[in-house]
Parts: sequence; structure tokens; C-alpha cells
Amino acid sequence: MKRKNYYHLFILLLGFALCFNSTSFGQQNIATPFPDRIILNLAEDASTSLAVTWRTDLSTTEGFCELQRMTPTRIDPANTKSFKATTTLVKYEYIGLRYVFEGEPNIEANQHSHIFTDLEPGEKYLYRVGKEGFWSEWFEFKMPSSDDSRFSFIYFGDPQADLKSEWSRVVRRAYNYSPECSFMLYGGDIINRAGRDWEWHEWFVAGSYIFATVPQVMTPGNHDYQENLEIDPHWTYQFTQPANGPKEVKNTCFFSDYKNLKIISIDSAIKKELREDENDIMLNSQMAWLDSLLTVNTKEWVIVTTHLPFYSSAESRDNTKLRTHFQPILEKHGVDMVLTGHDHSYARGMVSDFSAKPSIVYVVSVSGPKLYEVGNKEWMKVRGENVQLFQEISIDGKNLHYKAVTADGELFDEFIIKKKSNGKNKFIEKRLK
Ligand SMILES: [Fe+2]
Repeated sequence: MKRKNYYHLFILLLGFALCFNSTSFGQQNIATPFPDRIILNLAEDASTSLAVTWRTDLSTTEGFCELQRMTPTRIDPANTKSFKATTTLVKYEYIGLRYVFEGEPNIEANQHSHIFTDLEPGEKYLYRVGKEGFWSEWFEFKMPSSDDSRFSFIYFGDPQADLKSEWSRVVRRAYNYSPECSFMLYGGDIINRAGRDWEWHEWFVAGSYIFATVPQVMTPGNHDYQENLEIDPHWTYQFTQPANGPKEVKNTCFFSDYKNLKIISIDSAIKKELREDENDIMLNSQMAWLDSLLTVNTKEWVIVTTHLPFYSSAESRDNTKLRTHFQPILEKHGVDMVLTGHDHSYARGMVSDFSAKPSIVYVVSVSGPKLYEVGNKEWMKVRGENVQLFQEISIDGKNLHYKAVTADGELFDEFIIKKKSNGKNKFIEKRLK
């Protein structure tokens, strides 16, 4: 073969190789020297602190954040404060036994994490992450004001399946519906197979810059735990959530204070739905922590998020262990609402009269495309089936306004809660399906 022909053969083989690699999983979810998967998380005291986490490949051995106040002019790097992040080398490996995903490589990455502190309430900021030559774009965020003025947040029941293909439109619709939302809250089962980096890749594609702009708050679901009953390491290293829960349930049971609201994550998926915990350590430590936290609470509103429903929307499901142990604590302290997922349908209701004693609004919802039949149970005031939803919840002083909105932006459910001067709640029904 002539030399020229060898050259053409080489170019042809190189083309095939590049073509094959560009369609392999590794080429799409692998880390690079540039920051990706940039995500904000609420800190314990959301009025002055905010956490950011991102990922690079191993060639970027350290990470920095640059922060400055919002400006309408060109961004002058001379105005920035620089912070060095905490960097951890992590190997993400799917260890599930029941399912095999051909062609997916293990992913090694450096995860970088930093908590901005001493931020000013009500101030707008710009930030970027990375290092010289490898910076992200500048993102913006706004700190909550120190008064009790109105704010809104978004709630998502299980995203879980077809995250890039079909959940993406829900998170984008929610951001479009409520562009000034203060944070986005999740009821667990963010992905389907714990530890599978490819699914996290899809979740970050769906959320894109929204995750770097709006703080995310997550409680885990059963699908966020691996078959060995350990939490997916992505939860430990790609988020920086408050580590203020009981030591036995690190990082997945926690609280965050946002203006006059206390948000609490109870981990009802730990040890796969509290079942394998023979001495109930995970259960008892969370109960004691929750009771003591609420005993000293000074926030006007308290909303709990947990994966398992206290009252299921599925006909054949009932999480009695969760309800028996936690409901008395929630009622004792007058918690306002519990946001849950797991059942892949929609239901909303109460189990006692607001005028009689502190009652709790229970919500089961789903944002992803995995949808199940809804049951027909006495507790349900409103129910929905075969519909992807998100919630916009607005708090304005002593008023809470709840809206459940469909993936195509239609109002599906709505109510208002008002705090009365005697401390009790007044419930106002706005819409019944
Ligand atoms: Fe679940």
C-alpha cells in the first residue's frame, strides 16, 4: 500500500474512533478541567450564608470562588473577594447488582465545596468558580431580606426517571413560572439508581444554570440509597447541605432557616425506609432531634419535607411506622405542612379540623414522568393521577399561599393558610378538583 493510502486509512480510522467516543457515555458525563455540576445549597442560616459545590477532573487539584456585589456594568475582577474551596477526590461507581448498564465508566472527579458566610441580607451577588484559565461564567444570587416580606419557593416530588428527556421541562417551567423563587425543595428520589453517575448527569443537564442560581434543598428517597443501604456518594460530595442533624443521620436530616420559615428534612428513606434499622437508632435519633429542635423554634412557619408520605396517595400503601413515631411530634409543635413524594401521584388533605387543634396539611406529589394510579382515601381533599406537577409556595408574613401547577403551567390545586392572632391557623380552600 502506498504511503498516501496509509495516510487516508489512518484518517478514516481516527474518524471512526472519534465518532464512537463522542457517543459513548464516558465522553458525556466525564469531568473536565472546567467546573461543571455547579449547584447552590441553602445553609443553616440562609440570611447570611450560602453553599456552592462543583466538579472538575483530577487535573484541577484545587478550586476557588470569586464573589462580588451585583453590578450593572462590566464585571471588574479587581472587586472580587477570593475563597479557596475544600476539595475531595471522589470515585463514583454504580454498585447495583440487579441492573447492568453497559458502557458506563466509573467516574473520578474532584468535588469542590465552599460556604459563603457574612453575606448581607437582601444583597445581590455575582460569583464564579474554578481557577485561573478555567473559570465558570459569573452566576448571580440574591440573599433573603431581614424582614418578613413575601418570598416563594418551589417544591418537586420525585423527579427520578427520564430526567433529561422529560423532567427537564418541569424544572424549566417552574423557573419560568416563579423566576424570583428563593429556593427549590425536593421530596427525594432525585434519580432512579443510586450511585449511577449517568443519571446525575441527566439531572444536571435538566437544571443547568438554574441549579447555580437558585439554591436547591434535598431530602433523599429510597432510590437515593444504594443496595448496600449506604447513601449514594453523590449526596455526600456533590451537595453541601447543613450538617446540623443528629450524628447518626449525617447530612440527610437537617434544617435550614429562611426568613420566617424553618425547613426540616426528615430522612424516611434511611436504611431503605427505616426497615432495616433493628435498634431504631436512625428513627429514635431523628425523633429526639426533631422534638428538641421544634421546642426552641422561633420561626412563624415550619414545613417538613420527607420522602415517605404520612398518608399515602396509593391505595395499597401505608407508612405506619413513620406516622406513629413522627406525627405526635409534628402535632405537638404545630407544624404547618408536610411535603412528600414516593407514590407517584398527587394528593392533598388534612386529618383533623383546623379549628379543633393544630392541624397539618399533608401533600404527596410527583414532578417526574413515572406516574402511578392514585387511590381514593378519606384523608384526600384533592387528588390527581397521571399528571406531572410542581408547587409554588409563597409566604408573606402570616399568610401562606400554596399552588400546585401542572407541567404545562396550569393551576391544579390551591389553598391559603393564615396565622391567626391566637397562634392557630385558618385554612382557606381556593380550588377543588
Ligand atoms: Fe420512592
